[in-house]
Amino acid sequence: MSAHSHAFPPAAFHAIEWQHQSLLLLDQRALPHEHRMNEYNTAAEVADAIRSMVVRGAPAIGIAAAYGYALDALAGRDLQQAYQVLAESRPTAVNLFWALERMAGLNTEAPHALVAEARRIHEEDILANQMMGQYGASLLHNDSMIYTHCNTGALATGGHGTALGVIRSGFADGKVSQVYAGETRPWLQGARLTAWELMQDNIPVSLVCDGAAAQLFRREKIDWVIVGADRIAANGDVANKIGTYSLAVLAKHHGINVMVAAPTSTFDLSLPGGDDIPIEQRPAAEVTHLNGQPIAPPGCDAINPSFDVTPAGLIDVIATEKGLIMQPDTDSIALLFAR
Ligand code: MRU
Repeated sequence: MSAHSHAFPPAAFHAIEWQHQSLLLLDQRALPHEHRMNEYNTAAEVADAIRSMVVRGAPAIGIAAAYGYALDALAGRDLQQAYQVLAESRPTAVNLFWALERMAGLNTEAPHALVAEARRIHEEDILANQMMGQYGASLLHNDSMIYTHCNTGALATGGHGTALGVIRSGFADGKVSQVYAGETRPWLQGARLTAWELMQDNIPVSLVCDGAAAQLFRREKIDWVIVGADRIAANGDVANKIGTYSLAVLAKHHGINVMVAAPTSTFDLSLPGGDDIPIEQRPAAEVTHLNGQPIAPPGCDAINPSFDVTPAGLIDVIATEKGLIMQPDTDSIALLFAR
């Protein structure tokens, strides 16, 4: 792996680039202060990048894994091993397994075919984001005030974004007056990434401590909580960044609508409900430390579930590239997939 940096981020960025038969990933751990592209040439290196959060966000993880698989094909390496090492990188985002299945399902070791498939996965995701952005934005009224969580933008996807794609599309339609971005402890994707993306697009954004959401919902007229998803079960239960479930409960209490924006590659219809979704447990040090500095007493125990499950009953709508699923449940989801 190698890296090159710019002192200031360019206005337009790509989180994932395929260049001269290698994979470039924007190192999201360094944002917003440093714009560094790292170069990867093996599936094992890409798996490390996914595990260590260089690239994150469900669709982006899937796209990176597809390119990682293609990298090992280019080098003539064992593709079963490539599949295995990538599949072990992070457990919750089903887009990872979906993308690997698509690559392995081609039943070929031909590098050009596998690179082309990875590129298709990448391009299709951008299109899907634009479609779901329009579907989701069609539900917003003028002057909408929106609360979002984690980062679901161009950084987390092939481009445009899922929840942030809906916000971008809604803003372009003149319907969004204010976005509140929850900071998203412990990785601070909201503060470091979402605020950065929205500010570059001149979309009004205020950063909010996660714990301030309840007071904000009580005092301000928030119209929508809009979030992404890492895996959606057949009954519409949604695994997403830890803290999403609390926001959905709070939204219900305050009469605020909840929208989940996700491509169909984020659905796992093999799981009947959310209790079956594997939840990633990340190192305690991510909670006890900030930027490598301890913020808790030495030896302090911590739990660090990276995702939670929001029951379908708390979700008003799921926006996908195929259309909107109102009041998601097993039947409405099956209906969308039957189309
Ligand atoms: O741990 P992360 O940063 O990969 O988690 C990301 C999220 O939870 C996003 O909300 C989800 O992947 C949807 S992004 C389009």
